[in-house]
Amino acid sequence: MDVDISFSCSEINWNIVSETLKQVGMAYYASDLHKKAFEASHTTVFAWHTGKLIGFGRAISDGVYQAAVYDVAVVPEFQGKGIGSIIMENILNKLSHCNIILYASPGKEKFYETLHFRKMKTGMAHFTKADAMAERGFTE
Ligand SMILES: CC(C)(COP(=O)(O)OP(=O)(O)OC[C@H]1O[C@@H](n2cnc3c(N)ncnc32)[C@H](O)[C@@H]1OP(=O)(O)O)[C@@H](O)C(=O)NCCC(=O)NCCS
Repeated sequence: MDVDISFSCSEINWNIVSETLKQVGMAYYASDLHKKAFEASHTTVFAWHTGKLIGFGRAISDGVYQAAVYDVAVVPEFQGKGIGSIIMENILNKLSHCNIILYASPGKEKFYETLHFRKMKTGMAHFTKADAMAERGFTE
């Protein structure tokens, strides 16, 4: 399958980003908030098939030695075709000099293990919606 990768936030329809995150069960916000978050990120990656946005991901970073990955999602009908891996590999390439952390959605750990991520033993989170995140299985 033909997949094109781009890195720029220009020309992105942020409604599709918001809708895709909603569709795959991830946290989603109004489109202008996603625009702000992606534009403020160190690395943004977008995957396209025949001109259609089919996946994306981003990382925040100091650009020196620490980074964190967020909002990795692939449109459902394109999942399981290697596109999530391509998005992550592009993020990792841009941040190869950094320690990179992320938290996987419950049940998606295997995807990151295939990319050589390992479970953290002392990961801690201070979530704005702490109770909801505990209910969804992210925290104890
Ligand atoms: C998780 C997600 C980004 C993976 O993208 P994808 O394009 O479907 O994944 P790929 O086809 O690149 O799969 C890469 C590897 O991860 C594995 N994998 C992918 N999704 C998986 C899952 N849900 N559970 C277990 N393994 C999974 C695949 O089996 C594959 O392994 P292989 O190379 O040994 O065959 C995508 O399925 C998605 O958007 N899911 C919903 C949103 C989400 O949960 N995002 C992650 C937030 S932490």
